Amino acid sequence: MALDRAAMRTVIRGTGMYVPPDRVDNHRLSRVMDTSHEWIVQRTGIEARHYARPAVATSDLAVPAARAAIADAGLDLADIDYVVFATMTPDVYFPGSAPYFQRKIGLRDVPCLDIRQQCAGFVYGLQLADGMIRAGAYRNVLVIGAEVHCGFMPWKCWDVLLDGVERQLTPEEFAENTSYRDRLALFGDGAGAFVLCAQGECAAGEPPRGVLDCVLHTRGELAEKLYTPGGGSAFRPYFSAEMAARGETVPIVEGREVFRHAVTLMPEVVGELLGRNRLTIDDLDLVVMHQANLRINEAVQQRLGLPCTKVFNNIQRYGNTTAATIPMAYHEARQAGHGRPGDLICFVGLGSGLNWGALLYRC
Ligand code: ACO
Repeated sequence: MALDRAAMRTVIRGTGMYVPPDRVDNHRLSRVMDTSHEWIVQRTGIEARHYARPAVATSDLAVPAARAAIADAGLDLADIDYVVFATMTPDVYFPGSAPYFQRKIGLRDVPCLDIRQQCAGFVYGLQLADGMIRAGAYRNVLVIGAEVHCGFMPWKCWDVLLDGVERQLTPEEFAENTSYRDRLALFGDGAGAFVLCAQGECAAGEPPRGVLDCVLHTRGELAEKLYTPGGGSAFRPYFSAEMAARGETVPIVEGREVFRHAVTLMPEVVGELLGRNRLTIDDLDLVVMHQANLRINEAVQQRLGLPCTKVFNNIQRYGNTTAATIPMAYHEARQAGHGRPGDLICFVGLGSGLNWGALLYRC
């Protein structure tokens, strides 16, 4: 059936999420490096995160999240005609996670695209999917955000973290873990997915529904504020044992700088998006932010003048799951009663690149 492009809107028809079963709380982290539950909660709001076991890759987490979203949409796998897979931790360096995901879930030969926008990846993915649907090219697009950060973490003490083994680490191993503690406390593994579908324009007189607008930005001059310094085509060889020994395969985070940009640029982009749609903060029913740090989100909430009832955070339970934070948070927000018909929702994220952006959606 031919699609009527002019009348097409993109709606979120289903959401789903998945986290691996192993939950690692702050107390467990404090056994393997110099940190404390109190420090992590006070600075980040994080109480626990989930870790994937060795040999569990990003595409493995995406499969149950996608199945849940497709079931929630009331569709079959065969209905999906495009996959956008946002991740900064692909299963292998190439071909990316999307083809592995396709094979594992048993999807036919539809296009499966990886995108690399890190913590802003899901908002970028939603904008891509909306563009393809409104262009009339595809009907049911699966957008996934998934990460297994454990792959880049320098832990050697998986037995203590995942199996509850109570052995004492050597002073050298404890000191090595501690040298990465600013980053190791932040990240968790998980996956979230949306099924986006084409829907005809609503009746005359009704407010437009579905994806309304999106603003995206990239500022490459800040790339090194948050990046992985070792590994890649800038090096000969691509990877080396020396790089790994120097810790250059673990991401570097200039935490205070990233924090400063996040609390400035996220409110700015929300304002830009609302302004060009002649809307105000009061029109919003819910803001779903990337979950990098609860203190960042509290500062953004305060700058925007949003009441607590209009934000939803779940970083306390999952840590920062990068591309997966927004779909996981919105999935849980829906379960908590948000996302009623007519609600106006803003998704906003910022991360490595720097990439950031916001998307406006009417339920
Ligand atoms: N446990 C205990 N102490 C710690 C830990 C830890 N896990 N991490 C750092 N510290 C120590 C530092 O070593 C430092 O000690 P010192 O004063 O003796 O040198 C002290 O705490 C203060 O360190 P800061 O880095 O200044 O701490 P800050 O308050 O900035 O918090 C954090 C660090 C949590 C990383 C914060 O800056 C942050 O959240 N930044 C933005 C988030 C971010 O960059 N996330 C990465 C993903 S990108 C994204 O999602 C946007």
